Amino acid sequence: MKKILIVLVLVGHSVSAQFTDINIIKEVKVRNKGVVVSAHPLASEAGAKVLKMGGNAYDAAIATQYALAVVYPQAGNIGGGGFLVGVKNNGEKFTLDYRETAPKKASRDMYVDKNGKADTDLSQNGRLAVGVPGSIAGFYATLPYCKLPMETLIQPAIDLAEQGFAVTQLEADFLNKHKEAFQKHNHSPITFVKNEPWKEGDLLIQKELAETLKLIQKFGAKGFYEGKTAQLIVAEMKRGNGIISLEDLKNYKVAERKALEFKYKDNDIVSMPLPSSGGTLLAQMLKMSSLEKIENYQQNSAPAVQIMVEAERRAYADRAEYMGDPDFIQDKTSYLISDEYLKNRWKSFSFNKATPSAEVGKIINPSKESTQTTHISILDKDGNAASITTTLNGYYGSKVVVSGAGFFLNNEMDDFSIKPGVPNMFGAVGGEANAIQPNKRMLSSMTPTILLKNGKPYMVVGTPGGTTIPTSVFQSIVNVVDFKVNANTSVNAPKFHHQWLPETIKVEKNFPESTIKELKSKGYTFESVDHIGKTEMILIDNNGNIQAVADGRGDDSVAIE
Ligand code: GLY
Repeated sequence: MKKILIVLVLVGHSVSAQFTDINIIKEVKVRNKGVVVSAHPLASEAGAKVLKMGGNAYDAAIATQYALAVVYPQAGNIGGGGFLVGVKNNGEKFTLDYRETAPKKASRDMYVDKNGKADTDLSQNGRLAVGVPGSIAGFYATLPYCKLPMETLIQPAIDLAEQGFAVTQLEADFLNKHKEAFQKHNHSPITFVKNEPWKEGDLLIQKELAETLKLIQKFGAKGFYEGKTAQLIVAEMKRGNGIISLEDLKNYKVAERKALEFKYKDNDIVSMPLPSSGGTLLAQMLKMSSLEKIENYQQNSAPAVQIMVEAERRAYADRAEYMGDPDFIQDKTSYLISDEYLKNRWKSFSFNKATPSAEVGKIINPSKESTQTTHISILDKDGNAASITTTLNGYYGSKVVVSGAGFFLNNEMDDFSIKPGVPNMFGAVGGEANAIQPNKRMLSSMTPTILLKNGKPYMVVGTPGGTTIPTSVFQSIVNVVDFKVNANTSVNAPKFHHQWLPETIKVEKNFPESTIKELKSKGYTFESVDHIGKTEMILIDNNGNIQAVADGRGDDSVAIE
C-alpha cells in the first residue's frame, strides 16, 4: 500500500489540501457492500462516496468517470468516449455506446497522402486525429438509471480539479514522458507542463477544467455540446487542421444498444456489441476454446496457451474482415459467434504446430502495439452491476488540450482503418467494414463485461490495452471459470496476447519459460512486453464473498462503500 501525504502551505496561512492522501488499495473481500474498482484511488473513492450517499452502481459509474477525467488525464476523459454495460439486480441488461464519431467533414482517404501512403502521424497526433467526443452525452444517457442528480455526481470531480490532487509516481512519469508532445501540439501554456519535471506528490490543479465541469453542472449536456465549451473546442480545431464543427457537437447522439449475450458453460455473459469488436471476439474465443476442453488444462500451461492463442488468431482475422459500426455495415455477429461457424473455423487447429496466420486470413504487414484506455468495475450493495471502459485512445489522446476548457481531446480517428490494410497504433489491421465515413463510429476493442449465474451478476470485468483488451478479458474469465483461480490470481498472473497479425505471441516479462520453450518447438514466436492491460475485477465467490481486485500493474485501486 502506498501513501502520499503532503500539506499545502500558502503564503500567510496554511491549508490542508483535501486530495493529497493517496491510498492505493489492491484487494478487498467484503459482503453486502458496494465496491468500485478503477485506475486511480481518488476516482474509486469518488464512486464509493456517491454509493454512501445512497446512489447505485450507475451513479457511481458517472462520478468515477468524471473523477478519472481529472485525476487520470492519460485516459480518463470528457474529451473521449466509451461503453457502459449494465445489469440490474432484476436481470435487466442494457448497454450505452458513447463512442466518438467521425466529423461530418471526414472522408475515407483523409489520412492518405498524394503518394497513396497512410499518414499515421496525422491520425494519431494533433487536431485532425480527434473524433466527436461522446463521454458527456454518455453520462447523461446513464442518468435515467441513477438515483442522484447530475449536480451531485459531478461535484467530486469539480473539487478535485479546483483544489488539485497529489500526482502518483506513475502519472508524474507519464506527464514527463509526454512533455515534448504536449508542447508540440499546444500553442498556449497548459497546466500539464511545468518547467521542472513532475514528481510524486506534486499538486496538479486544473482551474479551466473545473470551470468546464461547472458549465456542465449548470447547463447539462449543453454545457459541453453547445455554448462556450463547444465554441472553445471549435476554436481549438481552427488552431490547426481540425475539422470538428459546432454542428458535429450539437448532433452527437448516444446509441443504446441491445447487449451482446451468450452462454459459456453455466454462465450467461453480457458484453458490448459492435461498434466494439470486444464482445464478439470474446464469444468467439471462449466458444472455440471450449471445443478443445480448455478446462482440462492449467493456467499458462503450454496446451492451454496454444488453444487460446489459436482461438485468438482466428477471431482477430474475423475482426479485420467483418467488423465495424453496425449502423453502416451489415452486422454478421450472430453468424460469427454461431456454434456451426466456429466448429468449422476450428477444424484447422492442431496441437502439433502453430497455424500460419495466412491460413486464417489475408496477410498484410502490421506495426507496433500500445496500451491505453481505462476500465471501471462496480457492484453496488443491491447487486446492480456496471462495467465501463472509456478512452482517449492513446495516452492523453491527441495531446491537444482545449485552450480555455482544460481537457485533452481524443485521437480516436486512428481506430478506423485509415487505409484498409494499414495497421493502426495497436498494430490492428482493418478492412473496408471499418473505413472512415462521416458520422460513423470507429471500431473498438473495449470489452466491458458482466457474468451472471442464475440470473444474477457475479463477475464484473474489463481492462484497458487497445487490441489486448479482448484477449485479457478472455484470459480473466477462463482463469476463473475453467482454471478455478481466485480473482487476484486471475488478474495478476502473467498474461499473453495474440491478434492474428503480427504472428508473434506477446508475453509479459515473468511468463513461464517452460511454456515458451514448448510452444517455440511447435513453431510459435514470442515477444516480451512490460505489461498487458490493467484488469479490474469484482467476483462474488462460491461463499458469497465479494472479491474486488485492482490490477497490480498500475495505480489501480478499490474503494468500498
Ligand atoms: N481506442 C481503443 C479501443 O477503442 O479499443
